[in-house]
Formats: sequence, structure tokens, C-alpha cells
Amino acid sequence: MFSKLLIFFIGFIVLTIEVNSAESWKPVYIQPEQLHISLGEQPTEIVATWTTMEKTSDSICHYGEESKQSFDYSSRGYQQKFIDGGPKKRHMYIHRVYMKNLQPDTRYIYHCGSENGWSELFFFKTFPKGNEWQPRFVIYGDLGNDNAQTMSMLQEEIQLGHHDLVTHVGDFAYDMHTDNALVGDEFMRQIQPIAAYVPYQVMAGNHERDYNYSNYNHRFTMHSQGEKEINNHFWSYNIGPVHLIAINTDFWEHIQYGTHMIENQFKWLEQDLKRANEPENRKKQPWIITMGHHPLYYQATRPDNKIRIGNEQLPGLEPLLYKYGVDLSFWAHDHIYTRFLPVYNEKIFNGTRQDPYFNPKSPVHIITGSAGCREFVTPVHSNPNPYTAYVSNDYGYTYMTVLNETHIQLRQISRNQMGKIIDEFMLVKEKHGPEAWLY
Ligand SMILES: *[C@@H]1O[C@H](CO)[C@@H](O)[C@H](O)[C@H]1NC(C)=O
Ligand SMILES: *[C@@H]1O[C@H](CO)[C@@H](O)[C@H](O)[C@H]1NC(C)=O
Ligand SMILES: *[C@@H]1O[C@H](CO)[C@@H](O)[C@H](O)[C@H]1NC(C)=O
Ligand SMILES: [Fe+2]
Ligand SMILES: [Fe+2]
Repeated sequence: MFSKLLIFFIGFIVLTIEVNSAESWKPVYIQPEQLHISLGEQPTEIVATWTTMEKTSDSICHYGEESKQSFDYSSRGYQQKFIDGGPKKRHMYIHRVYMKNLQPDTRYIYHCGSENGWSELFFFKTFPKGNEWQPRFVIYGDLGNDNAQTMSMLQEEIQLGHHDLVTHVGDFAYDMHTDNALVGDEFMRQIQPIAAYVPYQVMAGNHERDYNYSNYNHRFTMHSQGEKEINNHFWSYNIGPVHLIAINTDFWEHIQYGTHMIENQFKWLEQDLKRANEPENRKKQPWIITMGHHPLYYQATRPDNKIRIGNEQLPGLEPLLYKYGVDLSFWAHDHIYTRFLPVYNEKIFNGTRQDPYFNPKSPVHIITGSAGCREFVTPVHSNPNPYTAYVSNDYGYTYMTVLNETHIQLRQISRNQMGKIIDEFMLVKEKHGPEAWLY
């Protein structure tokens, strides 16, 4: 009896020691991951943002011109502890470093991390100086962790240098906070082969909303050109001949977090549009292009869309876009590609009889929300409204090449059809600004 007890007791001690030693040999998570870049405060800056699960000794990027194959520059930034809002309150460290004094139109190599370890070696190419170049955008929304149909195509095209930047028009990961933000971590790893090579410019959708957008706020770094403060919700930037504006339309959908966010954004947007329309600015950036997650128009008519027309308490966007002569607006949220005829107030404003997009008399709207996510695609409407010009729910994304101050080429790529261009049109504007509506 006693010896049995003794054996049991010894067994218990051995087991306990084993459990203890297993616990004291946990891995440490100090290797940089989820690295991505975005446009800095100035056009001569690129910001790198990455994650380590534990605190590291420093936040540094080494970078240099690719032609020299050396890291001639080093920038130091900061790390911030981020605690996810989920039940496990998982924490991680988000690092931000501004690579400064970059030369235009130059390829750089870089890596980021600290003395605790560096990331892989990546590269990026800075934009040419001034406005006389032809930016090549990739535009899409609604790209998730699961069923990310277009991910591999995007990764490859970006690495081959086919595009200058990406804009992701809301709805990431589905959702970044899901499973205590493990879904967010994995999604950010998936986009690293895209986002470490070209600026990955973002705006929020409804899937970013939880815990007051905290995963979204922490994991990205958006600046308006010339603005020191990070603002992931609304920002604007001059890219060649384009003044690009990004806004958060989800503020209208979820007023529980406060309507002051809609009002602040709306004030900012009007100021920004005013400034962009000052003659010397509109001359340099004739194209004003907006992006936001929730569309103003769908295949089916929604006359009470409050984001478009507002309500008693809140202003709507459409009058503002029209007043300040916005040329082109991209939306997502509907998991589909939809090209609309020029439309304002639910009326068609074609340019000419032959070509609706030749000097259109209103802004042009496009939905591109079919990059792929676990909510699949939206059905094509059997009887769409008269201003719906083309619809496809193939998985895909949009190319926008800004050829010059009068011509923008738009193409829709289908994943289902192995990269085939399924829709293509040229937006031509011989005049910009509100006077274009009368031209
Ligand atoms: C959510 O965050 C914004 C700042 O981004 C803040 O203005 C707002 O008051 C917050 N709302 C809540 C409910 O915490
Ligand atoms: C606008 O152009 C489209 C495409 O050419 C055409 O089908 C439609 O009838 C035109 N609508 C109006 C009101 O001009
Ligand atoms: C702009 O690009 C279009 C399409 O390539 C071309 O036809 C047109 O001549 C160009 N305009 C100017 C001013 O370069
Ligand atoms: Fe979505
Ligand atoms: Fe959405």
C-alpha cells in the first residue's frame, strides 16, 4: 500500500516537473512579420508597419538604392502595444518606421526589425517626381483570409512590378478581430507578398468596425499628404495627375460610435475638395478620385441610401461630389463588379450619344468588391436599374491606368477566366471640375 502510494507520489512529481519545464520553454516571438508599406507624410517617405508578438529591442528599417546593393540609410521608429478587444485580450507589438529622404523613381531594397532579428529583404520603387507620369493602380475591396480567390494573382503581378500601388476599398480578412485576432494576423501575413513591395493604401468597411475599428486602426498607417498625424479613416494624396481621397462610409452605418465622426469627416472632405479645386491645384491634379466602402449606387435602385443623400441628421455624399467636380468614385461592399453610366440624382448624364464616358456630365461610379472572401459573391440582378451599364460577379479586381490629364483607362480582370479582361473602357475628360458638367 505504502509503496504504491510512493510510486504514485514520485510519478506525480515527475509529471509536474515535466509540465513545468514544458512551460518554461515556450518559444519567443520576436521575429518581424506582417510587414507592409504605405505612403508617408511626404512623397519622399514610405512608412513600414509590422508586427512582433513580443516587445523587441528597437524598431528600425535599413534601406538603400537597389543599384548599390547596400543599406546606406537607417531609420528608427517606434513600437506600440496593441491589445485586441476579444476575450483572450491577445497582445502584439505594432512597429512603425518612416523611411525618409527617398529619391523619386528609384528602386530601394530594405528590411525592418531590430538587433533581435530582421525581416526578409524586400524592395519598392518610389513614384516619379511631379504629376507627369502614369500611375498604375490595382483597386479592389472585400478580400478575406478564407476564399481569397485573387490573392495569388495579386501577389505575383505585384512582385513582377506591374503596378505602382494597391488600394483596398474596405472589408479585410473577415474579420481581423475574429478568433481573438488570429484571423487578422494570418491575413496580414497573406498580404505581405503584396504589401511589402508597393504602398498598400486602405479604407475601412463594415468588417473593420468591431471594438471601434481597433484592429484596423492599429495595423495600418495612413497619412494625408503633408499631415503628420495618422488617420486611417479619411486621407488624401496626390499621385501623379490624381488627387486621391479615401473616406470611411461605415460611419453612416453605425452611428452608435458617435455621429461626430461623420461630421468631422464631412468637414474635412469639403475642405479637402475645396483645396483640390483651387485652380493651381486642379491644374496639377486634374483628376479627383474618391474611394469608400459602401456604394452610393447599386444594381437595384435604393432611393433612401443615406450615405448618398443623407437624412435629417446627417449629410449625404453625392451633392458634395457633384459640387466639387469629382471625376470618378470607387466603391466595394457589394461582392461584385459594377460599372455605372454617369449618374447623378438617379438620372443618367451620358457624355455623348456614342460614348457615355466621353465628357460625362456627372461623376462616374464603379463597384469593385469581388476580390474574394468567405461571404462569396453577390448575385447578378435579373432586372437592374437603367444606369447599370455592366455587371460581373466573377472574382476579380480593377486596373486603373491614368494615361494623362484627359484619359484614364479602366479594366476589370476576372479570376474565374484566368486573368481575362472582361470589361474595359476609357474615361475621357477634356475639362475637369464642376464646369465639366456643363461642357
Ligand atoms: C471611437 O474612436 C473615435 C476615434 O477614432 C472616437 O472619436 C470615438 O469617440 C470612439 N467612440 C467610442 C464609442 O469609443
Ligand atoms: C447612355 O448611354 C448608354 C450606352 O451607350 C445607352 O444605352 C443609354 O440609352 C444612354 N442613356 C441616355 C439617357 O442617354
Ligand atoms: C492622352 O492619352 C490618350 C490615350 O493614349 C491620347 O490619345 C492623347 O493624345 C493623350 N493626350 C495628351 C495631351 O497627351
Ligand atoms: Fe464585404
Ligand atoms: Fe462590406
